[in-house]
Amino acid sequence: MALLELNEVSIEYKLSNGKLKAVDNVSLNVENGDVVGLVGESGCGKSTLIKGIINLLPSNGKITNGEVIFEGEDLSKLEFEKMRKKRWKEISMITQSAMNSLNPVYRVGNQITEVILEHEKMSKHDAMEKAKELFDLVGLDRARLEDYPHQYSGGMKQRAIIAMSLALDPKLIIADEPTTALDVIVQSQILEKINALLEGYSGSMILVTHDISVVAQTCNKVAVMYGGRIIEYGDVKQVLKKPNHPYTMGLKNAFPSLTGEKKDLISIEGTPPDLSKKIDGCRFKDRCPFVLDKCKSGEMPFTRVESGYYYCARHDEIDHLRELADLSETWDV
Ligand SMILES: Nc1ncnc2c1ncn2[C@@H]1O[C@H](COP(=O)(O)OP(=O)(O)OP(=O)(O)O)[C@@H](O)[C@H]1O
Ligand SMILES: [Mg+2]
Repeated sequence: MALLELNEVSIEYKLSNGKLKAVDNVSLNVENGDVVGLVGESGCGKSTLIKGIINLLPSNGKITNGEVIFEGEDLSKLEFEKMRKKRWKEISMITQSAMNSLNPVYRVGNQITEVILEHEKMSKHDAMEKAKELFDLVGLDRARLEDYPHQYSGGMKQRAIIAMSLALDPKLIIADEPTTALDVIVQSQILEKINALLEGYSGSMILVTHDISVVAQTCNKVAVMYGGRIIEYGDVKQVLKKPNHPYTMGLKNAFPSLTGEKKDLISIEGTPPDLSKKIDGCRFKDRCPFVLDKCKSGEMPFTRVESGYYYCARHDEIDHLRELADLSETWDV
């Protein structure tokens, strides 16, 4: 049994003048030990999907279809209080901005011990000892446990949240763009830290990122999201070396290879679909260089491959399309 199974999950937001389908029929399995990269352009539904998984959607957002099965239990049907008990302990979350998780009026050390004590029977002293060890692990000075969040730099806050997310040794860590708010140097330090911590972590992780090179370095699986749907999923090596969906081929051309010969970036022209309107046909049809009439209406066929799946009406000609796509240097995966 997969650790996390998303079955045909759809999530909608109510708007003042209608609704917006931010996640449309997403299916995905995360196995024990998987580190899944979730990538896609801004607004494609990544944060909505993970908020849906942990039951943290805003009041106008709702799972309208499907199941979120975590260890055999459907989280989408779980009462808020029961879900709260699972948070940090079984599923922890590193958000886009650490300030969303740290309370500005409490000392950081107290916030970490509070999370520990809420879920585990131990003395305050022992919880603080654990917090100290966690700070060692993420490379923060133990003395800083006494400080308030505003006394931390952005990178330090993010390290503190990573410490908190590891405190109860959860089975699944979800990190939503954990480094976007940081400068590039601190970004790479934090990513190195995450990579180092993953070596000693036996659980699973979903890592949301804009950066395919991060996926190549950190993840074993990748889910490519476009316009509210995971349009391709599979093993990192397979997806990045031999993408099946034309959008993934486009992404591959849009990002430079880490080690290969540098080529000019070819960005994907056009804009993603408006999720407040019903989408007919392939959601990538307006930007796809390989679009045909059969792509323009109906549901796109689901094609299973060895390590995952993709949705494309031209699934029987993918090898040919890949040749036409002029893919840039192979990712170093
Ligand atoms: N609270 C909300 N109410 C209404 N619409 C929302 C709300 N939050 C997000 N959306 C819309 O849902 C869609 C998906 O947004 P989401 O934040 O999930 O995207 P994302 O992939 O995480 O983007 P980013 O990479 O910028 O973080 C977008 O069209 C967005 O405008
Ligand atoms: Mg987001």
